[in-house]
Amino acid sequence: MCGIVGYVGAKQAAPILLDGLERLEYRGYDSSGIAVINNGIIDIEKAKGRLKVLRDKTENGSTVSGTMGIGHTRWATHGEPSDVNAHPHLSQSGRFAVVHNGIIENYMALRERLTSKGFEFISETDTEVIAHLFEYYYKGDIMDAIIKVMDRVEGSYALGVLSSDYPDQFVAVRKASPLIVGLGEGENFIASDVTAILKHTRNVYYLEDNEIVVLKKDEVKVYNADKEEVKKEVFTVDWDVSAAEKGGYEHFMIKEIEEQPKALRATISPRIKDGRIVLDDVSLTREDIKNINKIFIVACGSAYHVGVVAKYVIEKLCRIPVEAQIASEFRYCDPIVTSRDLVIVISQSGETADTLEALKVAKSRGARVLSIVNVVGSAIANASDDVIYTWAGPEIAVATTKAYSTQLSVVYLLALYMAEKLGTLTSGQYNKYLTELQALPELVERVLEDKEQFAYLASKFYNCHSIFFIGRNLDYAVSLEGSLKLKEISYIHSEAYAAGELKHGTISLIEKGTLVIALATGGELFDKTVSNIKEVTARHAVVIGVTTTEHTMENVVDHIIQIPVTSDIFLPSLSVIPLQLFSYYVAAQKGYDIDKPRNLAKSVTVE
Ligand code: F6R
Repeated sequence: MCGIVGYVGAKQAAPILLDGLERLEYRGYDSSGIAVINNGIIDIEKAKGRLKVLRDKTENGSTVSGTMGIGHTRWATHGEPSDVNAHPHLSQSGRFAVVHNGIIENYMALRERLTSKGFEFISETDTEVIAHLFEYYYKGDIMDAIIKVMDRVEGSYALGVLSSDYPDQFVAVRKASPLIVGLGEGENFIASDVTAILKHTRNVYYLEDNEIVVLKKDEVKVYNADKEEVKKEVFTVDWDVSAAEKGGYEHFMIKEIEEQPKALRATISPRIKDGRIVLDDVSLTREDIKNINKIFIVACGSAYHVGVVAKYVIEKLCRIPVEAQIASEFRYCDPIVTSRDLVIVISQSGETADTLEALKVAKSRGARVLSIVNVVGSAIANASDDVIYTWAGPEIAVATTKAYSTQLSVVYLLALYMAEKLGTLTSGQYNKYLTELQALPELVERVLEDKEQFAYLASKFYNCHSIFFIGRNLDYAVSLEGSLKLKEISYIHSEAYAAGELKHGTISLIEKGTLVIALATGGELFDKTVSNIKEVTARHAVVIGVTTTEHTMENVVDHIIQIPVTSDIFLPSLSVIPLQLFSYYVAAQKGYDIDKPRNLAKSVTVE
């Protein structure tokens, strides 16, 4: 979704803003703009389309001079992508320039009121309301104005505000939309996420809701809504700058697919000490775990698919009932959640609006919330009772790969951790699982070794109009992810079905040449899935079978992909890799914008 960057320092702001915005491109956008202040005058440049258009228009920022400014990439919500609707937006007199992420829910009412006071609107955006509100409420103190604006607007926002009355400082504020502050030497920044400023500084403040920050070249002060100064803790981000760069790869997605073994090691290894899982970050006691009545797993998209795997794994190892729910459904279904339940929230960004709201619903009903998050200091992490971080590093490609894999590995750690406390596994079983979990990164490496076969299969099938994924239990859970991966980057229609369910309706869509990707990795259900494969081959479907080296599918399917053998619960970590690679190569064959697929945003901060 939208991205914000702000800079104040001694250097020219525009090139820094453009560079920062480029690093936020992955969030998804359709127009961009910058505002820079020079001799008390705000200069604005905006352009529909890719950042390159803005770069060309401003000759890489050289036509816009000044050492303080704000920039924005807009993902259209109110009003089509256009130069006029792009941010920053100016107030009527040009005294304030505003960039905004989020949605102002009462903007219609505010717009009507401001219009009745003589304000003229030139865009269709909700953001322009904020620019005019600043002007309306400004009586000589920008802090007072910002507090009044916060009081009047409903919804979510991260705002960067430049004012011609303040040539050496700008202000920013957030509520339910991500915004961090970067602390440099003689220069300071704001950004939607750290990747935008990692090149300049690793020291950041994570802003809480309703915190206002005033940034000058040599000073950053944070205030609450009562104008009281708030002492913030400085966090040092340990992400590698190169992790947010392509480093010779054609796309971030393939780089991130290849980074999975490393990310898995980083997530798993530090949490296994002397043959036991140690989750320092989790405060759940043995008693707490024993008293859990039910576990809800709440997330969106791929993170939800991790939740579907988690349901099978936790129920098998811990014998606690688990329900995986899509966050946008959970938050509005009046869920029967009590203080005896544990709610596990999964989110790479830690900012997904529906997931965050679902978390709040769970907390308001007394449930304890444990989150699995990749971004330190994110809203979901801050709002949770316990957080287990995935150490995947920054994930730039919109289609998640390494975040999904590391989330799975945390699910394994947590399930085994709880099983040990509950005594639901023998020590022999526990030790075997632990050894296999530690070996997972190496097995993923083995699957990644033979990428040629996936490129070959993609070259054969990239013209398909519709592809079905089938599997049972854990294989079904992975099918959901495989199907989503394919859809989002290759734009091929695809559906994932529980293999036994196909004949209850969907099999009518199978005809000669339909491609079915059948996952049959689990030992116990292998024969059952083979029967379902036969049902589709009898209707002349073409089948790619994914199984382990322990099984043979010869004479059953047209193409076989084999993954290494391990315990069933860990197989999703291996079987997802061929599906990621297949999707990647199909999209590459089609020449699509793999890292930034159409209509999608990396961090979905609106509901
Ligand atoms: C798909 C994908 C999305 C995210 C979903 C949740 O490849 O990345 O489906 O999984 O938008 O995002 P987070 O994990 O940031 O809450």
